Amino acid sequence: MERLDKESLLGVQQAELTAPRRDYSVASKALFSVMDLVYGKERDLEKFRVLEVVARVPYQAWENVAYIAMTHTSKRPDFARRVYDRARVARFEQDNEQWHLLILEELTRDQPRSWLKGSIIPQVLALSYYQLSWMLFVLRPKWSYRLNADFEDHAAHEYATLVEEHPEWETEPFDSFFESDFGTYDSLADMLPKATFPNAIAELGVDPGNYIAVTLHRPSNVDDPKNLEKLLTDLVAISREVPVVFPAHPRTRKRIAEQLPDLDLGDQFHLLGPMGYLDFLGLTVNARLVITDSGGIQEETSYLGIPCITVRENTERPVTVTMGTNILVGQDMAMLRHETAQILAGNAKIGQIPPLWDGKAGERIADLILSQAEQNAGQEILVTA
Ligand SMILES: [Fe+2]
Repeated sequence: MERLDKESLLGVQQAELTAPRRDYSVASKALFSVMDLVYGKERDLEKFRVLEVVARVPYQAWENVAYIAMTHTSKRPDFARRVYDRARVARFEQDNEQWHLLILEELTRDQPRSWLKGSIIPQVLALSYYQLSWMLFVLRPKWSYRLNADFEDHAAHEYATLVEEHPEWETEPFDSFFESDFGTYDSLADMLPKATFPNAIAELGVDPGNYIAVTLHRPSNVDDPKNLEKLLTDLVAISREVPVVFPAHPRTRKRIAEQLPDLDLGDQFHLLGPMGYLDFLGLTVNARLVITDSGGIQEETSYLGIPCITVRENTERPVTVTMGTNILVGQDMAMLRHETAQILAGNAKIGQIPPLWDGKAGERIADLILSQAEQNAGQEILVTA
């Protein structure tokens, strides 16, 4: 199992604390309310142990449904293959959640545990969540994914807040029986954010800090056959030196399959399906370099201090170029190769986080609106979007 350095973990922790929450579904809110009702609103390790008992079950539900689905796909081998991939990832995610649970069990082993709240209720919750997950997955996989995404989003934020509430954990050593499985960490505060970390990346066999993450979706890059071929050929060549992980939109994958059927991707170019936000954040924070044509990723990489090459002629986020880690290369593939080589050689541009990128914009806007409202007291305020 990989070891993430402290800066990466702190980056994830900070990003997690400031990232906006998802718009939770009714079922998710009900689950969180039951947890708060039974275990209290305060965060403690025992509550997180219960959370980890529940966390594994959607993956288990998806795996089981996938295996059943595979027995009915004899006429569609390509579909069976895709379903098998789902089952594999679901198995892997279950193992990942199991390590979290075992470590939380270990951390709470000396605490008194109520039979009802510590054993029975978590299993009832897990069983209910399992039934709901497989039923939603059968009806519409998207619904089940959404429920799990809500759960993971909530858990990640709760973990980050828990660590923030316990600054003393910075110096508390992490000694665990499971270190060889889960990694070694300098302190408990270093280990806990890892419990929210996506592990699907590790399954690819790439080392954190030593791969290039790629995202491309703009029509100018993926719809123009010539540009797509130039880009892909260069990226595949780069992947022979450093692995490339490319989570692609289904449309992009289709374009690649249609337009470049003979392109040999080699074994270090990982073309994946789309990723959830947290998985992608995990991919970004551990990348040696990000190559993208997206807008928001230019900002995220600048915030996280990760080198970024943007395959676009211009950017609506110029501060990421003037102050951050972003470099624009347009459609100039020679420049893309040159800048990539520079970064891989250790000559990455050193950026800084632009002023006011402190996660407090909302508070400042609220203050401005309030002060404006005070000035205009008694007058009608017209708010336009
Ligand atoms: Fe977990």
